Amino acid sequence: MALAPSTTADYCNWDPDDASFPEEFAWGASTAAYQIEGGWNADGKGPSVWDTFTHRAGERVFENQTGDVACSSYALWEEDLKCIKQLGLTHYRFSLSWSRLLPDGTTGFINQKGVDYYNNMIDSLLANSVTPMVTLYHFDLPQCLEDQGGWRSSVTVEAFEAYAQFCFKTFGDRVKLWITINEPYVVAELGYEKGTMAPGVKEPGTGAYLSAHNMIKAHAAAWQTYDKEFRKRQGGLVSIALNSDWAEPLHPNSPDDQEAAKRHIGFCLDWFATPIFLNGDYPDIMKSKISAISKKQGYPSSRLPEFTEEEKMAIRGTADFFAVNYYTARKIKHQDYACCQPSTTGDKEAEQVTDPSWPVATGSSWLAVVPWGLRHLLKYIKDTYNHPIIYITENGFSQSDPAPLDDSQRWEYFRLTLQEILKAIYIDNVQVKGYFVWSLLDNFEWTCGYSSRFGLFHVDFENAALPRVPYKSAIEYAKVIANNRLMDSQG
Ligand code: BGC
Repeated sequence: MALAPSTTADYCNWDPDDASFPEEFAWGASTAAYQIEGGWNADGKGPSVWDTFTHRAGERVFENQTGDVACSSYALWEEDLKCIKQLGLTHYRFSLSWSRLLPDGTTGFINQKGVDYYNNMIDSLLANSVTPMVTLYHFDLPQCLEDQGGWRSSVTVEAFEAYAQFCFKTFGDRVKLWITINEPYVVAELGYEKGTMAPGVKEPGTGAYLSAHNMIKAHAAAWQTYDKEFRKRQGGLVSIALNSDWAEPLHPNSPDDQEAAKRHIGFCLDWFATPIFLNGDYPDIMKSKISAISKKQGYPSSRLPEFTEEEKMAIRGTADFFAVNYYTARKIKHQDYACCQPSTTGDKEAEQVTDPSWPVATGSSWLAVVPWGLRHLLKYIKDTYNHPIIYITENGFSQSDPAPLDDSQRWEYFRLTLQEILKAIYIDNVQVKGYFVWSLLDNFEWTCGYSSRFGLFHVDFENAALPRVPYKSAIEYAKVIANNRLMDSQG
């Protein structure tokens, strides 16, 4: 057994490879329905915004690829389960396809085939001692709701609350870890501001703020429903998965860049975490910047919507743990955008660059590999959000296609990241309770299609059987899980 350093002097000699992860650490992998399930119109499933987005002609997705078949997990769940068992995961995080359960997004019609599919998954996970962590919504909004305004409309807030209640009632006797929404920042920024992801809405300067506003309300309503109607009987925990880069000032001694680096996190993580974990309202820096810039641009009021006092009360404190997705870090430089067209980037007045010395994952040009950024981010969350229990609900590195099964370089990235988590736990005293690799399988990587491979298991998309084969990273990860530490045979 080993060991956290017990005195400051010990830190000098402390090697994370000699330390164990805490007892009952959650070892997981994550997936999302649209990225793996396929069966896009099977057995009564309704269309989601991603079905519409990928089916519309254009060059928005690599080689016009779609998630129609993906890893075919809807048909091949048993194959996924084999992968989960081979890794020895203690936890598996997956998302429910809202429109597979409720084809038009409302509880007016329930698709029993969809309920059966997820019941079988949950039951077989539990039969194999794997704890499910279930995400209610991971980017695939039912198209019928988008047709009524999507996340820009309160119709979706109400529909989400009813959907969440339905899921808690149907699966909550067995599911004890819930994530309401995955990465609302990405949905808001890429789905409703820039329009590069589904539903492809381009409303710069307003779309992201309005959709985020409604997602925060929807999350809070779902948490309140769980708290009032289910918590006592079911005893589970509910949170929201927030993504964030780590940010460093480009010029460390420039006060402007230091402030800009803070805003980079403020306009991403804190945008959602401040209302949900602290006070029911947006960070002051967002309120003041957006209001001032809106005014200069001639708007009668801020482009950032306001919560009523009643809404603030209903939003604050609506998470039972902190779920964070971490992939990369950025260097940030102050940039005055005030004279330009409205946009969230302009409001932030921060420009991002990557350090040329940081390696970049071969499958994603945006993914600079900065494992130490995760330790900083964890410490930031601890200090800013009252020392919460944290689950790292996604972290990973992509390879480009064709991806070698011997992915030693990628495993090195994972190893360095796990070392940083140990430092966060033992040196910074952060309460990290679990780590989930993105992703269990190579899958449909949104606009990159199948060209970017994040899986622990390789999937051959050219072969109709879609065979899953472990990368070296899967084999090494299984050893870490079995030993609950990095070095398997020493100490
Ligand atoms: C998302 C995943 C995605 C991953 C890698 C996260 O933003 O939750 O769906 O595949 O990043 O890009």
